[in-house]
Amino acid sequence: MSRPVCLVSGSSSGIGAATVAEFAAHGYDIALNYNSGRERAEAIAQELRQQHGGEVLTLAADLAQRDAPFQLVDQTFAHFGRLDVAISNSGVSNLLRDEQGRVVRYRFHETPVDHLDQEMERVLSLNLMGAYRLAQRSLKHMIAQAQGELDTNTTPRHRSILFIGSISDIAPDSTRIPYGVSKAGLIHVVLGAAFEGGAYQITVNALRPGVVDTPITTRPAGIVNEETGKEYTVAEIYDLMALGGSQPIRRIGRPEEIAAAAYAFTHLPYMTGQSIAVDGGFTLISGFPNRELYFQEGLRRRREGQG
Ligand SMILES: NC(=O)c1ccc[n+]([C@@H]2O[C@H](COP(=O)([O-])OP(=O)(O)OC[C@H]3O[C@@H](n4cnc5c(N)ncnc54)[C@H](OP(=O)(O)O)[C@@H]3O)[C@@H](O)[C@H]2O)c1
Repeated sequence: MSRPVCLVSGSSSGIGAATVAEFAAHGYDIALNYNSGRERAEAIAQELRQQHGGEVLTLAADLAQRDAPFQLVDQTFAHFGRLDVAISNSGVSNLLRDEQGRVVRYRFHETPVDHLDQEMERVLSLNLMGAYRLAQRSLKHMIAQAQGELDTNTTPRHRSILFIGSISDIAPDSTRIPYGVSKAGLIHVVLGAAFEGGAYQITVNALRPGVVDTPITTRPAGIVNEETGKEYTVAEIYDLMALGGSQPIRRIGRPEEIAAAAYAFTHLPYMTGQSIAVDGGFTLISGFPNRELYFQEGLRRRREGQG
Protein backbone atom coordinates (compact mmCIF):
# COMPACT_ATOMS: atom_id res chain seq x y z
CA MET A 1 0.00 0.00 0.00
CA SER A 2 1.42 3.39 -1.00
CA ARG A 3 1.91 6.18 1.49
CA PRO A 4 -0.74 8.92 1.82
CA VAL A 5 -0.13 12.05 -0.22
CA CYS A 6 -0.46 15.68 0.82
CA LEU A 7 -0.30 18.69 -1.50
CA VAL A 8 0.43 22.07 0.09
CA SER A 9 0.43 25.20 -2.05
CA GLY A 10 3.02 27.85 -1.16
CA SER A 11 5.14 25.45 0.88
CA SER A 12 8.45 27.18 0.07
CA SER A 13 8.10 29.52 3.05
CA GLY A 14 6.47 30.22 6.42
CA ILE A 15 3.32 28.30 7.35
CA GLY A 16 3.40 26.13 4.20
CA ALA A 17 6.99 25.04 4.83
CA ALA A 18 6.12 24.10 8.43
CA THR A 19 3.03 22.24 7.19
CA VAL A 20 4.90 20.01 4.72
CA ALA A 21 7.37 19.21 7.52
CA GLU A 22 4.47 18.21 9.80
CA PHE A 23 2.92 15.89 7.20
CA ALA A 24 6.29 14.37 6.20
CA ALA A 25 6.91 13.60 9.87
CA HIS A 26 3.55 11.76 9.93
CA GLY A 27 4.55 9.52 7.02
CA TYR A 28 3.04 11.41 4.09
CA ASP A 29 4.57 11.79 0.63
CA ILE A 30 4.54 15.47 -0.25
CA ALA A 31 3.80 17.68 -3.25
CA LEU A 32 5.64 20.90 -2.38
CA ASN A 33 4.61 23.93 -4.43
CA TYR A 34 6.56 27.14 -4.88
CA ASN A 35 6.28 30.25 -7.02
CA SER A 36 9.41 32.45 -6.77
CA GLY A 37 11.31 30.40 -4.18
CA ARG A 38 12.78 27.53 -6.18
CA GLU A 39 16.00 27.29 -4.15
CA ARG A 40 14.13 27.46 -0.84
CA ALA A 41 11.73 24.77 -2.04
CA GLU A 42 14.53 22.43 -3.15
CA ALA A 43 16.36 22.90 0.17
CA ILE A 44 13.20 22.13 2.17
CA ALA A 45 12.49 19.07 0.01
CA GLN A 46 16.03 17.75 0.42
CA GLU A 47 15.87 18.14 4.20
CA LEU A 48 12.49 16.37 4.43
CA ARG A 49 13.70 13.44 2.31
CA GLN A 50 16.76 13.04 4.55
CA GLN A 51 14.81 13.39 7.80
CA HIS A 52 11.73 11.31 7.01
CA GLY A 53 12.59 9.14 3.99
CA GLY A 54 9.36 9.87 2.09
CA GLU A 55 9.01 11.23 -1.41
CA VAL A 56 8.90 14.99 -1.87
CA LEU A 57 7.94 16.29 -5.30
CA THR A 58 8.64 19.99 -5.92
CA LEU A 59 6.32 21.73 -8.35
CA ALA A 60 6.55 25.31 -9.64
CA ALA A 61 3.26 27.12 -10.18
CA ASP A 62 2.05 30.69 -10.13
CA LEU A 63 -1.40 29.96 -8.78
CA ALA A 64 -2.71 33.41 -9.69
CA GLN A 65 -2.75 32.22 -13.31
CA ARG A 66 -6.04 30.68 -14.40
CA ASP A 67 -5.05 27.11 -15.27
CA ALA A 68 -2.10 26.74 -12.89
CA PRO A 69 -4.04 25.39 -9.87
CA PHE A 70 -5.68 22.72 -12.06
CA GLN A 71 -2.32 21.71 -13.50
CA LEU A 72 -0.72 21.58 -10.05
CA VAL A 73 -3.34 19.19 -8.71
CA ASP A 74 -3.31 17.08 -11.91
CA GLN A 75 0.50 16.82 -11.82
CA THR A 76 0.37 15.73 -8.18
CA PHE A 77 -2.24 13.08 -8.89
CA ALA A 78 -0.48 11.87 -12.06
CA HIS A 79 2.78 11.45 -10.17
CA PHE A 80 1.54 9.77 -6.99
CA GLY A 81 -1.67 8.15 -8.22
CA ARG A 82 -3.55 9.40 -5.15
CA LEU A 83 -4.37 12.55 -3.20
CA ASP A 84 -5.39 12.37 0.46
CA VAL A 85 -4.96 15.92 1.74
CA ALA A 86 -4.89 19.19 -0.22
CA ILE A 87 -4.01 22.38 1.61
CA SER A 88 -4.52 25.72 -0.09
CA ASN A 89 -2.00 27.90 1.69
CA SER A 90 -0.45 30.26 -0.90
CA GLY A 91 -1.29 33.84 -0.16
CA VAL A 92 -0.19 37.44 -0.48
CA SER A 93 -1.15 40.50 1.52
CA ASN A 94 -2.13 43.74 -0.12
CA LEU A 95 1.05 45.71 0.05
CA LEU A 96 2.67 47.65 -2.75
CA ARG A 97 5.82 49.74 -2.90
CA ASP A 98 6.10 52.91 -4.95
CA GLU A 99 9.05 53.70 -7.27
CA GLN A 100 11.11 54.89 -4.27
CA GLY A 101 10.51 51.58 -2.51
CA ARG A 102 8.13 53.07 0.07
CA VAL A 103 5.12 51.08 1.17
CA VAL A 104 1.89 52.42 -0.32
CA ARG A 105 -0.96 51.96 2.10
CA TYR A 106 -4.31 53.67 1.59
CA ARG A 107 -7.18 53.95 4.01
CA PHE A 108 -10.69 53.09 2.78
CA HIS A 109 -11.89 56.61 1.99
CA GLU A 110 -8.58 57.66 0.40
CA THR A 111 -7.94 54.70 -1.89
CA PRO A 112 -7.59 55.74 -5.57
CA VAL A 113 -9.83 53.63 -7.74
CA ASP A 114 -6.96 52.46 -9.99
CA HIS A 115 -5.05 51.28 -6.96
CA LEU A 116 -8.08 49.45 -5.62
CA ASP A 117 -8.72 47.73 -8.95
CA GLN A 118 -5.10 46.62 -9.18
CA GLU A 119 -4.93 45.33 -5.61
CA MET A 120 -8.27 43.56 -5.71
CA GLU A 121 -7.22 41.83 -8.91
CA ARG A 122 -3.76 40.87 -7.61
CA VAL A 123 -4.84 39.64 -4.17
CA LEU A 124 -8.09 37.94 -5.15
CA SER A 125 -6.55 36.15 -8.15
CA LEU A 126 -4.31 34.19 -5.78
CA ASN A 127 -5.94 34.17 -2.33
CA LEU A 128 -9.49 33.50 -3.53
CA MET A 129 -9.55 32.34 -7.15
CA GLY A 130 -6.33 30.30 -6.91
CA ALA A 131 -7.57 28.69 -3.71
CA TYR A 132 -11.02 28.00 -5.20
CA ARG A 133 -9.53 26.32 -8.28
CA LEU A 134 -7.03 24.26 -6.31
CA ALA A 135 -9.78 22.98 -4.03
CA GLN A 136 -12.18 22.40 -6.92
CA ARG A 137 -9.74 20.16 -8.80
CA SER A 138 -8.64 18.41 -5.59
CA LEU A 139 -12.27 17.61 -4.76
CA LYS A 140 -12.76 16.21 -8.24
CA HIS A 141 -9.81 13.80 -7.88
CA MET A 142 -10.82 12.89 -4.33
CA ILE A 143 -14.41 12.13 -5.35
CA ALA A 144 -13.14 9.92 -8.19
CA GLN A 145 -10.93 8.00 -5.77
CA ALA A 146 -13.79 7.59 -3.30
CA GLN A 147 -16.15 6.50 -6.07
CA GLY A 148 -13.63 3.81 -7.05
CA GLU A 149 -13.68 2.54 -3.46
CA LEU A 150 -17.50 2.64 -3.31
CA ASP A 151 -17.67 0.68 -6.60
CA THR A 152 -15.78 -2.16 -4.91
CA ASN A 153 -18.00 -1.98 -1.81
CA THR A 154 -15.22 -0.45 0.24
CA THR A 155 -15.87 2.42 2.63
CA PRO A 156 -13.96 5.41 1.26
CA ARG A 157 -10.90 6.59 3.17
CA HIS A 158 -11.20 9.91 4.92
CA ARG A 159 -9.72 12.62 2.67
CA SER A 160 -9.54 16.31 3.41
CA ILE A 161 -9.21 19.79 1.91
CA LEU A 162 -8.08 22.68 4.08
CA PHE A 163 -7.87 26.38 3.27
CA ILE A 164 -5.47 28.56 5.19
CA GLY A 165 -7.72 31.57 5.72
CA SER A 166 -7.06 34.34 8.20
CA ILE A 167 -8.69 36.15 11.10
CA SER A 168 -8.49 39.15 8.72
CA ASP A 169 -11.77 37.78 7.34
CA ILE A 170 -13.46 39.53 10.27
CA ALA A 171 -10.76 41.67 11.93
CA PRO A 172 -11.31 45.25 10.77
CA ASP A 173 -8.45 47.12 9.06
CA SER A 174 -9.26 49.90 6.62
CA THR A 175 -5.87 49.57 4.86
CA ARG A 176 -6.19 45.83 4.25
CA ILE A 177 -9.62 45.43 2.71
CA PRO A 178 -8.62 43.41 -0.43
CA TYR A 179 -6.85 40.85 1.78
CA GLY A 180 -9.83 40.66 4.15
CA VAL A 181 -12.24 40.25 1.23
CA SER A 182 -10.15 37.38 -0.15
CA LYS A 183 -10.13 35.54 3.17
CA ALA A 184 -13.82 36.23 3.91
CA GLY A 185 -14.67 34.78 0.49
CA LEU A 186 -13.05 31.48 1.42
CA ILE A 187 -15.64 30.91 4.16
CA HIS A 188 -18.34 30.52 1.55
CA VAL A 189 -16.17 28.28 -0.61
CA VAL A 190 -15.75 26.02 2.43
CA LEU A 191 -19.49 25.79 2.95
CA GLY A 192 -20.26 24.84 -0.65
CA ALA A 193 -17.41 22.39 -1.07
CA ALA A 194 -18.14 20.68 2.26
CA PHE A 195 -21.63 19.81 1.02
CA GLU A 196 -20.27 18.07 -2.07
CA GLY A 197 -17.51 16.19 -0.25
CA GLY A 198 -19.59 14.76 2.58
CA ALA A 199 -21.04 11.77 0.78
CA TYR A 200 -17.52 10.64 -0.12
CA GLN A 201 -15.91 11.06 3.34
CA ILE A 202 -14.14 14.21 2.19
CA THR A 203 -14.03 16.98 4.78
CA VAL A 204 -13.50 20.63 3.82
CA ASN A 205 -12.55 23.28 6.37
CA ALA A 206 -10.63 26.52 6.81
CA LEU A 207 -8.02 27.24 9.44
CA ARG A 208 -7.88 30.95 10.28
CA PRO A 209 -4.50 31.85 11.77
CA GLY A 210 -3.94 34.93 13.87
CA VAL A 211 -0.66 36.78 13.43
CA VAL A 212 2.21 34.36 12.86
CA ASP A 213 5.93 35.03 12.62
CA THR A 214 6.66 34.43 8.91
CA PRO A 215 8.12 36.51 6.05
CA ILE A 216 4.63 37.95 5.32
CA THR A 217 4.61 39.70 8.73
CA THR A 218 8.12 41.16 8.42
CA ARG A 219 6.67 43.97 6.29
CA PRO A 220 6.72 47.48 7.80
CA ALA A 221 3.66 48.30 9.90
CA GLY A 222 3.58 52.08 9.39
CA ILE A 223 4.52 52.90 13.02
CA VAL A 224 8.00 54.19 13.84
CA ASN A 225 9.97 52.78 16.76
CA GLU A 226 11.16 55.96 18.44
CA GLU A 227 14.23 54.24 19.90
CA THR A 228 15.58 52.97 16.56
CA GLY A 229 13.95 55.42 14.14
CA LYS A 230 12.87 52.43 12.01
CA GLU A 231 9.34 51.23 11.34
CA TYR A 232 8.17 48.31 13.42
CA THR A 233 7.33 45.20 11.44
CA VAL A 234 3.78 43.83 11.57
CA ALA A 235 5.06 40.90 13.67
CA GLU A 236 6.70 43.24 16.19
CA ILE A 237 3.58 45.39 16.57
CA TYR A 238 1.27 42.43 17.15
CA ASP A 239 3.75 40.77 19.51
CA LEU A 240 3.83 43.94 21.61
CA MET A 241 0.04 44.20 21.47
CA ALA A 242 -0.25 40.58 22.63
CA LEU A 243 2.11 41.33 25.50
CA GLY A 244 -0.09 44.31 26.32
CA GLY A 245 -3.19 42.11 26.59
CA SER A 246 -4.78 42.20 23.12
CA GLN A 247 -5.12 38.41 23.26
CA PRO A 248 -5.02 35.84 26.07
CA ILE A 249 -1.85 34.12 24.75
CA ARG A 250 0.69 36.89 25.10
CA ARG A 251 2.71 36.37 21.93
CA ILE A 252 2.15 35.93 18.20
CA GLY A 253 2.03 32.43 16.72
CA ARG A 254 4.73 30.19 15.32
CA PRO A 255 4.43 28.48 11.92
CA GLU A 256 4.82 25.06 13.58
CA GLU A 257 1.74 25.72 15.72
CA ILE A 258 -0.38 26.42 12.63
CA ALA A 259 1.09 23.35 10.93
CA ALA A 260 0.15 21.14 13.90
CA ALA A 261 -3.40 22.50 13.75
CA ALA A 262 -3.52 21.92 9.97
CA TYR A 263 -2.62 18.28 10.53
CA ALA A 264 -5.28 17.96 13.24
CA PHE A 265 -8.02 19.68 11.19
CA THR A 266 -7.41 17.34 8.24
CA HIS A 267 -7.68 14.23 10.42
CA LEU A 268 -11.11 14.79 11.93
CA PRO A 269 -13.60 12.80 9.80
CA TYR A 270 -16.62 14.31 11.59
CA MET A 271 -15.65 17.99 11.23
CA THR A 272 -16.57 19.68 7.96
CA GLY A 273 -17.69 23.09 6.68
CA GLN A 274 -15.93 24.90 9.53
CA SER A 275 -13.74 28.00 9.51
CA ILE A 276 -11.86 27.97 12.77
CA ALA A 277 -9.39 30.45 14.27
CA VAL A 278 -6.03 29.38 15.69
CA ASP A 279 -5.04 32.79 16.93
CA GLY A 280 -3.98 32.86 20.58
CA GLY A 281 -7.47 34.17 21.36
CA PHE A 282 -7.08 37.31 19.20
CA THR A 283 -10.69 37.17 18.02
CA LEU A 284 -12.20 36.87 21.49
CA ILE A 285 -14.13 39.98 22.46
CA SER A 286 -11.29 42.07 23.83
CA GLY A 287 -13.10 45.09 25.26
CA PHE A 288 -13.92 43.73 28.70
CA PRO A 289 -10.53 42.26 29.67
CA ASN A 290 -8.87 45.48 28.49
CA ARG A 291 -11.16 47.85 30.39
CA GLU A 292 -8.30 49.31 32.48
CA LEU A 293 -6.39 50.17 29.28
CA TYR A 294 -9.39 51.87 27.67
CA PHE A 295 -10.25 53.67 30.93
CA GLN A 296 -6.74 55.12 31.18
CA GLU A 297 -6.78 56.15 27.50
CA GLY A 298 -10.21 57.76 27.98
CA LEU A 299 -8.88 59.75 30.95
CA ARG A 300 -5.86 60.82 28.88
CA ARG A 301 -8.02 62.00 25.97
CA ARG A 302 -10.38 63.89 28.29
CA ARG A 303 -7.41 65.61 29.98
CA GLU A 304 -6.18 66.64 26.53
CA GLY A 305 -9.63 68.05 25.70
CA GLN A 306 -10.45 65.44 23.06
CA GLY A 307 -13.85 64.45 24.44
N1 LIG B 1 1.76 34.95 8.79
C1 LIG B 1 0.58 35.37 9.23
O1 LIG B 1 0.49 36.17 10.19
C2 LIG B 1 -0.69 34.86 8.63
C3 LIG B 1 -1.90 35.09 9.32
C4 LIG B 1 -3.09 34.63 8.78
C5 LIG B 1 -3.08 33.97 7.58
N2 LIG B 1 -1.90 33.75 6.92
C6 LIG B 1 -1.96 33.05 5.64
O2 LIG B 1 -1.07 31.96 5.66
C7 LIG B 1 -0.68 31.66 4.32
C8 LIG B 1 0.82 31.50 4.25
O3 LIG B 1 1.42 32.74 4.59
P1 LIG B 1 2.84 32.88 5.32
O4 LIG B 1 2.62 33.73 6.51
O5 LIG B 1 3.48 31.55 5.50
O6 LIG B 1 3.59 33.80 4.24
P2 LIG B 1 4.91 33.55 3.36
O7 LIG B 1 6.01 33.06 4.23
O8 LIG B 1 5.09 34.84 2.62
O9 LIG B 1 4.50 32.39 2.35
C9 LIG B 1 3.65 32.62 1.26
C10 LIG B 1 3.72 31.43 0.33
O10 LIG B 1 2.82 31.68 -0.76
C11 LIG B 1 3.52 31.43 -1.97
N3 LIG B 1 3.04 32.25 -3.06
C12 LIG B 1 3.07 33.61 -3.18
N4 LIG B 1 2.59 33.98 -4.39
C13 LIG B 1 2.26 32.83 -5.04
C14 LIG B 1 1.71 32.55 -6.32
N5 LIG B 1 1.42 33.54 -7.18
N6 LIG B 1 1.51 31.24 -6.66
C15 LIG B 1 1.81 30.25 -5.79
N7 LIG B 1 2.32 30.46 -4.57
C16 LIG B 1 2.53 31.73 -4.20
C17 LIG B 1 4.97 31.76 -1.68
O11 LIG B 1 5.80 31.08 -2.63
P3 LIG B 1 7.25 31.65 -3.07
O12 LIG B 1 7.92 32.16 -1.83
O13 LIG B 1 7.90 30.45 -3.67
O14 LIG B 1 7.00 32.72 -4.09
C18 LIG B 1 5.12 31.22 -0.25
O15 LIG B 1 5.43 29.86 -0.28
C19 LIG B 1 -1.23 32.80 3.44
O16 LIG B 1 -2.42 32.39 2.80
C20 LIG B 1 -1.53 33.89 4.44
O17 LIG B 1 -2.56 34.75 3.99
C21 LIG B 1 -0.71 34.17 7.41
